[in-house]
Amino acid sequence: MNVKWITFPARGDARGLLIPIESDDDVPFHIKRVYSLLHMQSGAVRGAHAHRKLQQVIVALTGSCQIKLDDGRAVEKITLNNPACGLCLEPMIWHEMTDFSADCVLLVLAAEHYDEGDYIRDRAEFLRLSEGAHI
Ligand code: TYD
Repeated sequence: MNVKWITFPARGDARGLLIPIESDDDVPFHIKRVYSLLHMQSGAVRGAHAHRKLQQVIVALTGSCQIKLDDGRAVEKITLNNPACGLCLEPMIWHEMTDFSADCVLLVLAAEHYDEGDYIRDRAEFLRLSEGAHI
């Protein structure tokens, strides 16, 4: 699977770190929505779905977690732990986030407004649709 990362132009100085993220520039789409995931409980699993069309970029602003990416053929398990690096979460990738550190804060940049119709939450449906996509 071709996992794509974006490195943001972090500016550190003696006071700390500033990480700008510009829509349509650092991120390859117009950002229409931003959401955060935080205060995850021990053992929590987030995600466990795919999107039909939505493009997203996910960043661990603090702390760390694991993200499993599955395109229906191959699975990649990746650590998110760098606030200056965003992972591109493409459409039709089943993803699950686990192993959250207590201080983990995830920032997600999304190309579209929230649309429940874009979600594939049923694993069997995802496998059926992704099989078609790989033919
Ligand atoms: P969901 O995407 O299922 O969370 P996760 O994949 O992290 O486990 O969303 C959880 C709930 O929040 C669900 O009821 C939909 C709602 N929600 C919004 O209202 N707006 C949003 O932008 C998102 C991502 C979720």
